[in-house]
Amino acid sequence: MTNHTLQSSLGHYSFTSPFLNASGIHCQTQAELDDLAHCQALAGIVTKSATLSPRAGNEQPRYVDLANGSINAMGLPNLGYSFYLDYVQTDHGKPTILSVSGLSQAEMLTVLREIQHSGYQGLTELNLSCPNLAGHPQLAYDFAASKTLLTEVFRFFKKPLGVKLPPYFDLNHFGQIANLLNCFPIHHVNTINSVGNGLVVDIDTETVVTKAKGGFGGLGGAMVLPTALANVRALRQRLRPDIAIIGTGGVRSGADVFAHILCGADMVSVGTQVMKEGLGVYDRLAAELTAIMADKQYTQLADFRGQLKTLSASQRSSSRWTSQS
Ligand code: DHB
Repeated sequence: MTNHTLQSSLGHYSFTSPFLNASGIHCQTQAELDDLAHCQALAGIVTKSATLSPRAGNEQPRYVDLANGSINAMGLPNLGYSFYLDYVQTDHGKPTILSVSGLSQAEMLTVLREIQHSGYQGLTELNLSCPNLAGHPQLAYDFAASKTLLTEVFRFFKKPLGVKLPPYFDLNHFGQIANLLNCFPIHHVNTINSVGNGLVVDIDTETVVTKAKGGFGGLGGAMVLPTALANVRALRQRLRPDIAIIGTGGVRSGADVFAHILCGADMVSVGTQVMKEGLGVYDRLAAELTAIMADKQYTQLADFRGQLKTLSASQRSSSRWTSQS
């Protein structure tokens, strides 16, 4: 095999591989976070989106595995921001991304002020896209409200801050969110959050499968891969080059990781597949990605990052690697 490296970075933060956990996956409790710290193939630790006070979250069932992905309506169960802020200020041998959320803009601002005033020097990510709170629309679908919030945030927040975005489905919306983010000192964008408010129907029992919100929930896993790739690609084409991108959504294989990077992702996070397979997934993904790179004689991720080609009239697409067909 060729001499290769999976070395990655987000701005000035270096990682030994492109692999992160998706926020919400195996990152809520001390024991889960410690598992992430000990998982060698995982390059960084992303914490569960935290609110000002601890939350129990929605009623069970609130996460259901599906043949082609998952549906969840967790409702932001978390131990409260101070637990996660303490956790990330201890050295865990790899970089951390502290994910924060809130039920109101005032709550988000309060949590961010606490982080600004703390000794934490790592990355923070503001989740503008939690889809599972009854009565609370996703902020990132309201461009005016997002602009107002970010204007407030960057008045006082001087540490590196990324944002977690929901999927967009209209080219005009890609332009609008990118233009908005390009006006702020955003460190990175994490795209996509779950595809919000799907509905899974069990025809045997004639019921929904998750309890909260009448069964409406966020979709993840294989079924959202093309949406995730479209969002990574569209944002990479529109965001300032210094805004890094974490690609999230639909990763099951090294081929899927390769596709995210080809669309422009700097790093790639994995959610549903960790729930299905456990943390061992990261070793498999690293091996599969490395095999694809060796076959193509690429030695580093920069050799193909963002290099996705479109089809000219004479080209036909054929592939041995894709798992999307
Ligand atoms: C939850 C789900 C999300 O997709 C998210 O970004 C934050 C929280 C949840 O239901 O807990």
